[in-house]
Amino acid sequence: MNSIRFDYSKICQFVSKEEMESLFPQAQQALKSLKDGTAKGNDFLGWLDLPIEITTEQLQDIEKTAAALRARTQVVVVIGIGGSYLGARAVIEALADSFHNYEPNGMKVIFAGHNIGEDYYHELLHYLQDKEFGICVISKSGTTTEPAIAFRLLKELLESRVGKEEARKRIVAITDAAKGALRTLADQEGYKTFVIPDNVGGRFSVLTPVGLLPIAIAGFDIRELVKGAVEMRELCLNHDRSLAAEYAVARTALYRKGYAVELLANFNPKLHYITEWWKQLYGESEGKENKGIFPAGVDFTTDLHSMGQYIQQGVRMLMETVVSVESPHYKVEIPADEANLDKLNFLAGKRVDEVNKMAELGTQIAHVDGGVPNMKVVMPALTALYIGQLFYFFELACGISGCMLGVNPFDQPGVEAYKNNMFALLDKPGYEEASKAIKARL
Ligand code: PA5
Repeated sequence: MNSIRFDYSKICQFVSKEEMESLFPQAQQALKSLKDGTAKGNDFLGWLDLPIEITTEQLQDIEKTAAALRARTQVVVVIGIGGSYLGARAVIEALADSFHNYEPNGMKVIFAGHNIGEDYYHELLHYLQDKEFGICVISKSGTTTEPAIAFRLLKELLESRVGKEEARKRIVAITDAAKGALRTLADQEGYKTFVIPDNVGGRFSVLTPVGLLPIAIAGFDIRELVKGAVEMRELCLNHDRSLAAEYAVARTALYRKGYAVELLANFNPKLHYITEWWKQLYGESEGKENKGIFPAGVDFTTDLHSMGQYIQQGVRMLMETVVSVESPHYKVEIPADEANLDKLNFLAGKRVDEVNKMAELGTQIAHVDGGVPNMKVVMPALTALYIGQLFYFFELACGISGCMLGVNPFDQPGVEAYKNNMFALLDKPGYEEASKAIKARL
């Protein structure tokens, strides 16, 4: 079986073999606690078995629903935020054509509900006013403000454009089985719905309908994605020295040496949203109790011209994990030029990717020389199968790593703070006392 690989050989000058070895028993213990359900946050361990539990009937239902939406619309707006948004966007952006914006698959998928930008919504409503569009609204709690505002705006536009009856056929809701305002609304309006399992948290939900339906709507192969995750589960779940355990151990060893920030770097612009998904996964899982590696992302070579200076010579608190794609799908050669005014003829006949790979290698050597420990995750190609493997690899490593850190990797109590203040400032019923208190501070 071809699979993604993890290489941490370049961290040996930063962490000794003995230090690494001493951490493997902790990783084994962490993995065991995830598998036997004794880990902190153990009511949210459903993601461990999602890839093998999803049934053919469930996949068919998702594909059928996607096909029905595609048949009725030119554009589907996927509404969601955080874990109810990033996984789908990561896969779609990774697999879609960079310029045709998914249209080669006959469908344009766009996103809303992940911000509260008034101009964004003005422009979105304007863009949609002459389009045949549908809505896929996703919220596990069913009460999140950002997607709820977006849904209110888009539902109103859709109903006014095509009528309530047709709108009902173009709206799909993905939410809790019983709780939350979105569930109540969906049941009342008679929308097609999918359920997010109780025991799967938002940032671990990409292999539920949360990720799979938007990806299927965009025309990509969700079975390959799930297959990749199944393969990675087999490789990692019953092996104490799997690549997921190695990654968890390597980053933990570096963190304990004072490397407090991990940069996830790529040399392929299509991976930008995979990095965004990873940032949420690790940031929300580990950043608590005043602990945790700060996850940051860089897109190379683009950011070498903006962040490269800091990475090379700034405060030495950075470790770097490069997600490297081995083979591009297409071949583009650099042409020769008779005048050679740009002095680039030494590259003539070489593939663009050859230059990119040398940039990657040169960067790795420079960063290690500059005091940035470097790790690498290699994907043989950017396909749904390998993305499925990558998701499960990162999720399992995150669970192991979070348990080694001693936190509950599956809750996110800190995200409530801004919401409470926002509701108090907006005079939400029930927030009267908080409202008085916060306004006195202004
Ligand atoms: O990972 C998480 O739990 C969060 O990021 C949520 O996914 C995010 O806040 C959206 O929540 P909901 O799906 O309830 O609207």
